Amino acid sequence: MPETKKKVIAFNGSARKGGNTAILLGYVLKELEDEGIETELIEMSGVKIHGCTVCGKCRTNKNRRCAITNDVGNAYIEKMENADGVLLGSPTYVTDVTPEIKALIDRACVVSKSNGGIFRRKAGAAVVAVRRAGGIHTFDTLNHFFLITEMIVPGSSYWNIGYGMDKGDVEKDAEGIQTMKTLGKNMAWLLKKIGD
Ligand SMILES: Cc1cc2nc3c(=O)[nH]c(=O)nc-3n(C[C@H](O)[C@H](O)[C@H](O)COP(=O)(O)O)c2cc1C
Repeated sequence: MPETKKKVIAFNGSARKGGNTAILLGYVLKELEDEGIETELIEMSGVKIHGCTVCGKCRTNKNRRCAITNDVGNAYIEKMENADGVLLGSPTYVTDVTPEIKALIDRACVVSKSNGGIFRRKAGAAVVAVRRAGGIHTFDTLNHFFLITEMIVPGSSYWNIGYGMDKGDVEKDAEGIQTMKTLGKNMAWLLKKIGD
């Protein structure tokens, strides 16, 4: 039987399409593709996504989806469920993630918990862009999602954070870019080990 290709889905939570977070994610995705892994990048810029409303319906419906059906939430949760690995990227906004990516992780987390852990043992990694300070807190917020949903988190040579303010500035952060490349290699290695 031919081996089916592993897939990684990446979400860029930035309000700025193609900005620093997208560039950093691109370096990770390139390494994954070089290792034969299929990738997809979703830009959340301009996307409308509501936070968890605590309606509790995911606990009773148990249909692996959120009861909010008039936004992109369920389409994104389905993409995550169908992937072997998930990358969550966010710029640092007032020392934390963007509201769009927070809405996604809150809803995906509660849906997963209500359905016995739909992301268990997938690979998950965070990517953060920051101008100056607060990046580590943003990184922590994203990693809490992977850890509470029982995903496996590959590391890199440093925390997965790139520095820059204006679009493209992160290209000047050589260590940040190397960190993303190493993350991509480590995530590819992990994906080949898990889920066989
Ligand atoms: C609303 C807002 C809040 C921000 N808050 C911070 C912050 O707390 N710390 C920081 O160093 N940079 C902050 N920044 C700068 C961004 O994190 C930085 O420009 C980042 O590279 C943007 O990534 P992007 O191009 O992917 O959107 C903020 C930017 C915006 C728009």
